[in-house]
Amino acid sequence: MILVTGATGTVGGAVARRLAGTGEDVRALVRAPETARLPAGVDVVRGDLSDPASVEAAMHGIDGVFLVWPLPEAAPVVPVLEAVRLHAERIAYLSSAGVEPDAEEQGDPITETHAGVERAIATSGLAWTAVRAGGFAANDLAWTEELSGGGSAVRTPFPEARRAVVHENDLADVAIHALTTEGHAGRAYTVTGPEMLSETERVHILGEVIGRPLKTERMDPDEARARLTAAGLPAEAAEGILEAHRTFSDPAHTEDLHTAEEVTGLPPRAYRQWAADHADAFR
Ligand SMILES: NC(=O)c1ccc[n+]([C@@H]2O[C@H](COP(=O)([O-])OP(=O)(O)OC[C@H]3O[C@@H](n4cnc5c(N)ncnc54)[C@H](OP(=O)(O)O)[C@@H]3O)[C@@H](O)[C@H]2O)c1
Repeated sequence: MILVTGATGTVGGAVARRLAGTGEDVRALVRAPETARLPAGVDVVRGDLSDPASVEAAMHGIDGVFLVWPLPEAAPVVPVLEAVRLHAERIAYLSSAGVEPDAEEQGDPITETHAGVERAIATSGLAWTAVRAGGFAANDLAWTEELSGGGSAVRTPFPEARRAVVHENDLADVAIHALTTEGHAGRAYTVTGPEMLSETERVHILGEVIGRPLKTERMDPDEARARLTAAGLPAEAAEGILEAHRTFSDPAHTEDLHTAEEVTGLPPRAYRQWAADHADAFR
């Protein structure tokens, strides 16, 4: 049986749904079972990753764990891994393509946490696989605020920012492959989408898919910063997001494309597919 953490979220949700769809035994560790909407057949248990005892209580009969790490620091993962190790053999961790394994310091605090969790997992005694995700296509769900209900424009400070965004199902398939087939222990897989697309290009694709012309409109970066901080983001984090998008907007910006196909053998899902899968959210 596989224990899925983050099962109410983007990638953990895809892992839980896809495992349940193949008839695999799945248990989801969630903080609020009463509001978690998971497919029939998923064994839903209450647990919190900041409480290792609650993780251990969920571990009976578990062979493999899909780990999403939502806490800001890496250190508390150590007792969680000890609890996992008492029962299971394998772990697949949702990490970030931004991790530079040989660097002394990572580029930002989030990547620092991912690198710290990866280091802890590598010395945990578990057969581990890191799924180093590129930017999620699902981040574009933020645009539903402007588009659902008939809107036609996405206001953004960096419409030309280009990324090879990845479908959550591709990330889920790589993690499931690592947990259910042989040969993935000690491997770190970078998983991106199959094509570099600017925000404007993605908005156009979304428009074609939902059948309404859509466009981007440039927003002043100062306004974007103010919105991010008003939404509760610390100033440093808001600046980090803007800085990253400034980099993605550089015409010289490229990303090394590594798709799920390298691991699963299945063709990666294009952004158009992601748009079709989520079209209702944008209508
Ligand atoms: N967005 C990107 O472009 C990107 C790219 C690379 C890597 N990543 C990484 O992906 C991860 C986020 O994945 P996601 O977007 O799939 O997640 P998400 O949709 O943001 O959902 C977070 C999940 O974590 C759960 N959670 C939060 N705190 C918890 C706790 N204390 N104990 C147990 N569960 C807890 C939430 O459950 P409840 O709140 O329902 O309890 C939810 O299921 C992050 O580590 C991020 O750095 C993101």
